[in-house]
Amino acid sequence: MKFYVTTPIYYINAEPHIGHCYTTIAADCLARYHRIKGRNVFFLTGTDEHGDKIAQAADRKGITVEQFTDSMSDVFKTIWKKLNISYNRFIRTTEKEHQETVQNVFRILMDRGDIYPGEYSGYYCVHCEFFIPKTKIEQNNPVCPDCKRPVKVLAEKSYFFRLSKYEKPLLEYFSKNPEMIQPVFRQDEVKNFISQGLTDLSITRQTALWGIESPTPERYSVYVWFDALLNYLTGIGFKNGIPGEYWPPDVQLIGKDILRFHTIIWPAMLMALKLPLPEKIFAHGWWTMGSEKMSKSRGNIINPIDLLNRYGTDGFRYFLLREVPFGLDGEYSEEKFIKRYNSELVNDLSNLVNRTINLVEKLFNSTFPDSGISTQMEQLIDDVLSAVDLCMLNISFTDALDNIWKIVNELNRLLDREKPWNSPIESARNTISQCISGIYIISMLVYPFIPETSRRIWNMLNIKYEDDKIFLNKDALRMVSGRKSGKREILFMRIKP
Ligand code: MSP
Repeated sequence: MKFYVTTPIYYINAEPHIGHCYTTIAADCLARYHRIKGRNVFFLTGTDEHGDKIAQAADRKGITVEQFTDSMSDVFKTIWKKLNISYNRFIRTTEKEHQETVQNVFRILMDRGDIYPGEYSGYYCVHCEFFIPKTKIEQNNPVCPDCKRPVKVLAEKSYFFRLSKYEKPLLEYFSKNPEMIQPVFRQDEVKNFISQGLTDLSITRQTALWGIESPTPERYSVYVWFDALLNYLTGIGFKNGIPGEYWPPDVQLIGKDILRFHTIIWPAMLMALKLPLPEKIFAHGWWTMGSEKMSKSRGNIINPIDLLNRYGTDGFRYFLLREVPFGLDGEYSEEKFIKRYNSELVNDLSNLVNRTINLVEKLFNSTFPDSGISTQMEQLIDDVLSAVDLCMLNISFTDALDNIWKIVNELNRLLDREKPWNSPIESARNTISQCISGIYIISMLVYPFIPETSRRIWNMLNIKYEDDKIFLNKDALRMVSGRKSGKREILFMRIKP
């Protein structure tokens, strides 16, 4: 079974921040989970490299736009490496293959009459890359209704995508497929917007500084969003109108700021191309600081590299996935970060593993005891495995981790209650066996969230896994018993608040 997951492709006019990391870590977590469930996963991310604001950013640095896009896409790749992001492809919209997709799709839709020439008269916000109709702008104060920046006045010949034609088909599709837009509370916003009437979309610009050429005699620049959305097709090898084995996407993760692009323009483009629509488009919330959205332009961003250097990749991944239910907004503070890190990673998980391996060394000469697993523990593991599966299908990371922590907490309670360090050896053998089995399952379950930590636990359990041979499988429990333990290490050290 295949699983195709995507993130938005990020604008590269500035360095990545916590918001970009959030979507990408979430997609990585899904990709890893579905891989260990044995699915054929394709995980796509990348950079959105066209548009005036990118050209202007290069200009400000005094380098060519090619030099700028090369260096900035490398900045993104470097941070994804640090964050352990296991993408299958990193796409750049400046790649030749992508330009071909965009021009190819443009031609197909022109042949079908879904793209036609006309004239656009209205406004354009370079920052939001958005055409704004005259009715949405106050004439005496022409600023973007979203970002409040001054807008450009446009009156030019342009090509249009016949978006209005898809008004009804989209509404019909959403009522027949209520699972597509997630979380469900976002659906009304989309449906209401469509019900107010869709106008055809200008998809070229005469005066844009930097973009893909339209395959028309005038060679305009293709509108950045029309270009960017098609990355999801290029990324899996779209050729001559055929998208290949991974189509359609199983999950497309986006932030709520780009919901309409992904749930109106994008599905309409796919309908025009006569391609199946994505199974699920999930819009997550914003990270805020002091209740303002974190953004490059507001300058209130958390530098992810600082956090990584201070607390490590897995601490960062864990916090982002655990702190806020996926889909809602969340406020970032260092205090919250440290609190969660110290209580859940240090006190609960790290201590459990350290205590257990320490007891294996002391009581059993560093050899894992072998007295099987109790029916209660087996039941707990079964329950947690099915609960986590459901959470991951619903993209509910917080709940998945809550469930995994049921095993962590149960084992800590077991150790406290049974005190194997001062109980008869047979009883200690039984307690430690439960702990080892439980820790093994925990190491598999946390792998999508904190993969480096799983590797470190596997080292202590003396198990070696190749990346493509990790399977979430309860039967593998038996492989631990009878082995020598590996070198013990502390997984997470307490942070002093
Ligand atoms: N290039 C477009 C997307 C094109 S996709 C075909 C774009 N890029 S962006 O660089 O502005 O990044 C957008 C994504 O970054 C958001 O959808 C969201 O995933 C993430 N975030 C940016 N700021 C954010 C927060 N403060 N909090 C959480 N995520 C946000 O839009």
